[in-house]
Amino acid sequence: MADSAAGPVDLVILGGGSGGYAAALRAAELDLSVVLIEKDKLGGTCLHRGCIPTKALLHSAEIVDNIKESESFGIRSTFDGIDMTKVNSYKDSVIAGLFKGLTGLIKSRGIEVVEGFGRLASPTSVAVGDRIISGRHVLLATGSYSKSLPGLDINHNKVITSDDALTLDHVPASAVVLGAGAIGCEFASVWRSYGAEVTIVEALPHLVPLEDESSSKLLERAFRKRGIAQHLGARFAGVKTTDDGVTVSLESGTTIEAELLLVAVGRGPVSAGLGYEEIGIATDRGYVLVDRFLRTNVPTVSALGDLRPGLQLAHVGFAEGIFVAEQLAGLNPVPVDYDNVPRVTYSHPEVASVGLTTAAARERFGDIRTVTYNLAGNGKSQILKTAGAVTLIAVPDGPVVGVHMVGDRVGELIAEAQLITNWEAFPAEVAQLIHPHPTLSEALGEAHLALAGKPLHVHG
Ligand code: NAI
Repeated sequence: MADSAAGPVDLVILGGGSGGYAAALRAAELDLSVVLIEKDKLGGTCLHRGCIPTKALLHSAEIVDNIKESESFGIRSTFDGIDMTKVNSYKDSVIAGLFKGLTGLIKSRGIEVVEGFGRLASPTSVAVGDRIISGRHVLLATGSYSKSLPGLDINHNKVITSDDALTLDHVPASAVVLGAGAIGCEFASVWRSYGAEVTIVEALPHLVPLEDESSSKLLERAFRKRGIAQHLGARFAGVKTTDDGVTVSLESGTTIEAELLLVAVGRGPVSAGLGYEEIGIATDRGYVLVDRFLRTNVPTVSALGDLRPGLQLAHVGFAEGIFVAEQLAGLNPVPVDYDNVPRVTYSHPEVASVGLTTAAARERFGDIRTVTYNLAGNGKSQILKTAGAVTLIAVPDGPVVGVHMVGDRVGELIAEAQLITNWEAFPAEVAQLIHPHPTLSEALGEAHLALAGKPLHVHG
């Protein structure tokens, strides 16, 4: 058990979210003494306000879709409505179960958890109230918050963030979603499934604009078919709250009325007022700057997760936490390869990708080869009645450098795709692997067969 009163521990971690607790678990495994400081609940944004609750809502939304579409599978059923109180208790019970498991895990590894608001007090210590906790090394893992735009005030009632959206006690009749990143698209998807009229406003020309353009276009088509209105390349001008809801205006002059406005324009770093700048930690717009070894400019302080510039994903936080712990234990771990992190937007349909987009691959390699395999040729997709595609990008006579997929459940396929890009597999090597029939995974196999010059279930 780490006993901070007895002297400095090996690692003091500020923030018990995905990155912070992963570092704590791995450090303890490596026999380092650890103190983990958390002001709220272990598990952070991902467990309490992010990944887990949103996926629970998305699963309930999928059940609504299944009921509403059951006739097309020959099943008679009647959709009777949504009881948001019960949906929320289902969602909360998932969180509670995982929270209990996590708390037990942290305890079983002998990690000391300090509950309270921590502030960096020196390059080797954190203050929590009157207590100073000293360590050989300090890890900043304070995460992120839902940002807004200048002049756009969140009132948590009609103009809300994803935190508020997760605790709504009713289904909104209509909603405007500002921002078409993962958060915007996932909530648009849930609310549409629940029966709301949904309008997405996105400043860039596409939904999920960081994805390959081919994926964005497939999602746009699928969302259009689902009746989700889209204003793409549209600049938000302002919002007025009315008795019934909100009136959102765009710079084009268009106005949209709805019951509420969800602001999903990104997440900013939680770093203000935490002593970082006083200790001389270099930041940029609040993000803590780190090198590829996640070290800040102060040698005894590292930072990870949503707090540093770059991908804000729980699984990246886990990987970074493991890295920091192993580095501190002297194991010489390999830094995280941010180009090859799998990304999934869990909307209906899902968007999943790993590696480079077509545009990025062209820029890096000049000449590239691409293949798109339409899910129309995949038996399991037809059984599920999902549409979409798998797009592969490879270097000529070289490895696969990008995999982009759209379709229900494709998120589960990205784990295989990331082995392909991370191990720099050649198309012919993957084409040799047998994919079980009938599964969605065959679509990946078929796409590689096509890229290797021997397409099987491909027309033309
Ligand atoms: P985001 O940065 O991914 O998307 C925000 C979108 O808002 C961008 O497309 C941006 O162009 C748009 N936007 C910004 N200003 C605008 C304006 N004035 N008018 C119209 N559109 C505007 O951020 P998001 O979706 O809020 O997510 C935050 C972070 O959390 C991201 O890093 C995301 O990847 C992560 N996340 C990941 C999930 C997943 O992996 N499934 C789920 C939810 C969040």
